[in-house]
Amino acid sequence: MQETGIGRSGYTGLIDMSKTRIEFNEPFYGHEEAENLSKYMLESRDFTKDVQGMLGDITGAGRIFLTGSASSAMEIYLASGLLPADSEVIIPSFTYPAAANVVLSAGLKPVFADIERDTLVINVDDVKNKITARTSCIMPVHYGGASVDMDELMKLAAESDIRIIEDAALSMNAYYKGSHLGTLGDAGVISFHRTKNVSGEGGGALLIRDIGNSHVFEEMLESGTDRKAFLRGETMAYSWQRPGRGVNISPLSAAVLSAQLAKLNEIAGGRKRIWEQYHDELSGLARAGSVKLPVIPEFNENNHHVFHIVFTDNIAREKARTRLLGDGISAVIHYMPLHSSPYGRKLGYKPGDCPVSEEMAGRMLRLPMHMHLSEEDVALVCRAVRRALEG
Ligand SMILES: Cc1ncc(COP(=O)(O)O)c(C=O)c1O
Repeated sequence: MQETGIGRSGYTGLIDMSKTRIEFNEPFYGHEEAENLSKYMLESRDFTKDVQGMLGDITGAGRIFLTGSASSAMEIYLASGLLPADSEVIIPSFTYPAAANVVLSAGLKPVFADIERDTLVINVDDVKNKITARTSCIMPVHYGGASVDMDELMKLAAESDIRIIEDAALSMNAYYKGSHLGTLGDAGVISFHRTKNVSGEGGGALLIRDIGNSHVFEEMLESGTDRKAFLRGETMAYSWQRPGRGVNISPLSAAVLSAQLAKLNEIAGGRKRIWEQYHDELSGLARAGSVKLPVIPEFNENNHHVFHIVFTDNIAREKARTRLLGDGISAVIHYMPLHSSPYGRKLGYKPGDCPVSEEMAGRMLRLPMHMHLSEEDVALVCRAVRRALEG
């Protein structure tokens, strides 16, 4: 398989991914997931309610709706009518395009804000600069367990009567001052894509704080009808109440997810060990000023989803990225800024609008991070990084 490069200075051309020996990402599946799948297929055992209960216990969210992805969870909130038509939603430029896509598809306008250098999360001062009379919502991204200072952001949002949807797609089992990420804002989303710490081979969750609005999302996920209320005996018949979306989680994903959530502690412990080994083995380079290691603010409890390093410049990063790929190690850049992307430019943005996002996308690199990495694998990756910087 071939993947194109990144279109920045230092780009080295097409990369032959078939030679990869250490993958960037792999799900951690075993017999438990397979057994649950066969229970669903052969015994019609539905795990959806179990998953809802487990997630409720872990996150403490007011109400949880399971969806096909984090993107569809964001989409149902944005399309729910709770935000005024044509209003503006502030998102970081340094994020996955899904956030901008769902804002646009809900008929709203994405407004890009810049990020913090240390944590790569949205910069609250820049959010402040981007707020207008039309701003209805802010969607901060928690970058793999490191979050924006939610107290500060929520204070700002409250002053202007703006909603917050936390994009906690990468943040299953990560916390801010003891609260699960995604439960502090008006709503939050989590992803169970196969690249995430906890995978359902797809799937997502919408976490709602104000349960007074729950019926809106319940109906949207029932083709816009009050069928759930009917099944509870609250109405004589069900009827079309609002535009809906067919984006419920697949029962197959719920079966896998139930097994994954049952081994959350094992996953958390394994990823922490790998993260700490990277940190220890690369600390010499950090002391020498050749790289910066991830910063986890003290208000966060990390889920070790991401281990990224920041090089002194784009040339050093590209040297390391090329060296790793040459050694069969897959290391990637997440994210390419949205404002300066081809579609971001079509929306009227231009390079220079979010300078820190551009700079960090040019300097950062995410190292392989998954449960199948052995101590030897991590040592090999670190050796390749060191050699790239020496050579
Ligand atoms: C920050 C962020 N938000 C949202 C998503 C979309 O998640 P999903 O694939 O579950 O829709 C991703 C995907 O990686 C992401 O990185």
